[in-house]
Amino acid sequence: MKRIAILGSTGSIGRSTLSVVESYPDRFQIATLAAGGNVEAAVEQASHWKPRVLSLANEPDADIARTRLRDLGFKEIEVVHGAAGTVQVATHPEVDFVVSAIVGVAGLQATYQAVRAGKTVGLANKECLVVAGELIVAEARKQGKTLLPIDSEHNAVHQCLRGGRMEEVAHIWLTASGGPFLKTPKSEFTSITVEQALNHPTWKMGKRITIDSATLMNKGFEVIEACRLFNVPASQVQVIVHPQSTIHSMVEFVDGSILAQFSVTDMRLPILYALAHPERIPSDMRFPVMDLRHLDFCPPDMSKFPCLRLAYQAAEAGGAMTIALNAADEVAVAAFLEERIGFDEIPQIVEDVMSATPVGSLESINKVLVLDAEARQLANDMVRQRSRSVSPVRAIP
Ligand SMILES: NC(=O)c1ccc[n+]([C@@H]2O[C@H](COP(=O)([O-])OP(=O)(O)OC[C@H]3O[C@@H](n4cnc5c(N)ncnc54)[C@H](OP(=O)(O)O)[C@@H]3O)[C@@H](O)[C@H]2O)c1
Repeated sequence: MKRIAILGSTGSIGRSTLSVVESYPDRFQIATLAAGGNVEAAVEQASHWKPRVLSLANEPDADIARTRLRDLGFKEIEVVHGAAGTVQVATHPEVDFVVSAIVGVAGLQATYQAVRAGKTVGLANKECLVVAGELIVAEARKQGKTLLPIDSEHNAVHQCLRGGRMEEVAHIWLTASGGPFLKTPKSEFTSITVEQALNHPTWKMGKRITIDSATLMNKGFEVIEACRLFNVPASQVQVIVHPQSTIHSMVEFVDGSILAQFSVTDMRLPILYALAHPERIPSDMRFPVMDLRHLDFCPPDMSKFPCLRLAYQAAEAGGAMTIALNAADEVAVAAFLEERIGFDEIPQIVEDVMSATPVGSLESINKVLVLDAEARQLANDMVRQRSRSVSPVRAIP
């Protein structure tokens, strides 16, 4: 029986993980849960799954959840809050496997501490690897633990890599759906609305990752993730647009053989793969191979989607630059969702913040958080200069 902690249980990945756990009650069990501000959903999940510990982002929400759970008769569930609460959830002695699915850097401390505590970590949260990949991967190596990617592309690469050794890899090919604006002329990018950008053609996801998919920043983050997870330079990671999202990614070996992974577009499958690793266990998520007719591919247009180019630059520079990339993007995406800046201004703000960021290496998670706060401040200032409103950008709901 694997005892599981979910960081971000109320989100899209968190709920999918609970659905997988529900399907395999004899294999997986929920030990602890961490959510943000959705008290209703957190209380409902806690009363169903009866975790040892439930964490919420803020103290007032934790107080409400504690009272409700007590009223419902669940006095034994410990309710905690904040970054320390999330760390408690991630490092609890009864946890074997941590699903890291908090959006943004809010999940960083807990993910890093889970790795330090010797837990097996399934990583959905890509921002952790983007901003502190060097530190997290080094710690996992020290602990002798594998980081299991849940992000579908890296999960696919992880599966393909079972077909060869790292030194036999020529290229990692990450596929990209191209997002909703693949065929939209660049001249129309200034008038893209929030509603249009949230309409992803193939995946249903949280708001930030959906906008990041529309700008191709999400693919850029995945390039950095791949570099960190598989210890390869950015020049060995290629992006190819594949609108059907049928092939989740590929690995090209030195002899010219290419292995690809394809399956249904359902995040429960990479979650199941990670939870069950190194085993494979039966599921009902069948891909209708007989219905497959054609697969399209084309190179990405870096001039139309500058976020991808910026991410390659950050991947090569490493350290502070990937922090600036992520922080500026998070602030800019939140501002776009609040209709304070236009869609085409997201890469402009990211580029301006990166240009103002000196290259520097990372010694600790605290240093990462300091640099992240500085980059965020800079990005907020830039948003304020561009938008009419004067209030600071809030976190993405
Ligand atoms: N969705 C996908 O298909 C997908 C695929 C690949 C990778 N990912 C990555 O997985 C991560 C999660 O994505 P998602 O789509 O599941 O996002 P989401 O639906 O927006 O969920 C985010 C989760 O994080 C929680 N959260 C936010 N701030 C928090 C804080 N300060 N403390 C504790 N919890 C906090 C939220 O809690 P509340 O809802 O309670 O506020 C929610 O449970 C992201 O890094 C994303 O890039 C997602």
